[in-house]
Amino acid sequence: MSRVWFITGSSTGFGRSLTEAVLKRGERVVATARNKKQIEEFEEQYTNQAIAVKLDVTDPQEVRAAVKQAIEVFGQIDVLVNNAGYGTIGAIEEVSDEDVRKQYETNVFGALDVIRAVLPHMRQQRSGHILNISSVVGQVSFAGAGIYSSTKFALESLSEALAKEVAPLGIRVTIVEPGAFRTDFAGRSLLLSDTIIEDYASTVGDFRQRIRAKDGNQPGDPNKAVLAMIQVVESENPPLRLPLGADSVAAIEEKLLSIKNDVNNWREVAINTAFEDAVVTPVG
Ligand SMILES: NC(=O)c1ccc[n+]([C@@H]2O[C@H](COP(=O)([O-])OP(=O)(O)OC[C@H]3O[C@@H](n4cnc5c(N)ncnc54)[C@H](OP(=O)(O)O)[C@@H]3O)[C@@H](O)[C@H]2O)c1
Repeated sequence: MSRVWFITGSSTGFGRSLTEAVLKRGERVVATARNKKQIEEFEEQYTNQAIAVKLDVTDPQEVRAAVKQAIEVFGQIDVLVNNAGYGTIGAIEEVSDEDVRKQYETNVFGALDVIRAVLPHMRQQRSGHILNISSVVGQVSFAGAGIYSSTKFALESLSEALAKEVAPLGIRVTIVEPGAFRTDFAGRSLLLSDTIIEDYASTVGDFRQRIRAKDGNQPGDPNKAVLAMIQVVESENPPLRLPLGADSVAAIEEKLLSIKNDVNNWREVAINTAFEDAVVTPVG
């Protein structure tokens, strides 16, 4: 029997490409989007394989109803893809309180809510794979990307803990970390802060210009990215993290080196902080 995928944000970008690719392979999909009209074609074209469900991930009632419908129609959810998300750009001081909270509502609490709604079913099945679409900025942050990036860092740590909690139950977790891919992300899915503080012109100002200019020119092909995601789901040995794009790989490698250098350069200071008689045990 073919797998059942539950995908958030199927309207455009990665979510749409993945929905199409999975359906073409003959698998079943619960395609979800805030505007159901944008995904109804999947249901019409793939009558027995797809259902289109309205889902704004910030609405807990819609989350529960969508998962319930998925189980009623297909009886199982094998792969959950937490893809819905957007980016808020501006200096930490420039982004409004309201915009920070909205960013967390979608990228963190939305994804968390969907995960918690699906987990009881995956636990009962003793199988499943959760793909959380993070970003290269879930590993590395930049001036101007701090708010968006912090939501992806949150998603990464949730995923890391979750992977350890559910591995004995037959459930796998993979964090996907794309670099720049040609979707709607750098256009309509980027919210730039209204407030601009001149003191940040030389740091954030530059990033603000560059990120918008990327729209339509990103090197990454979303159709290739989703094939990599499918490959991970089909793998006997899926990774906890899947960076996508040469830009993502390079930035993460640089970050790993910088952490290593900090740890090495400050090792003596770091470890000489315990009580004289303390026994230090591993964290976790
Ligand atoms: N493209 C990149 O360069 C890149 C890089 C790293 C990570 N990512 C991540 O990839 C994911 C998908 O983005 P994309 O690149 O495919 O951009 P996209 O084409 O703009 O797609 C974003 C998707 O998220 C949906 N969405 C946003 N808020 C939502 C909500 N509250 N409830 C349900 N759906 C919501 C959008 O729905 P609507 O159509 O209703 O707006 C849309 O389907 C995001 O999590 C993003 O952070 C993208």
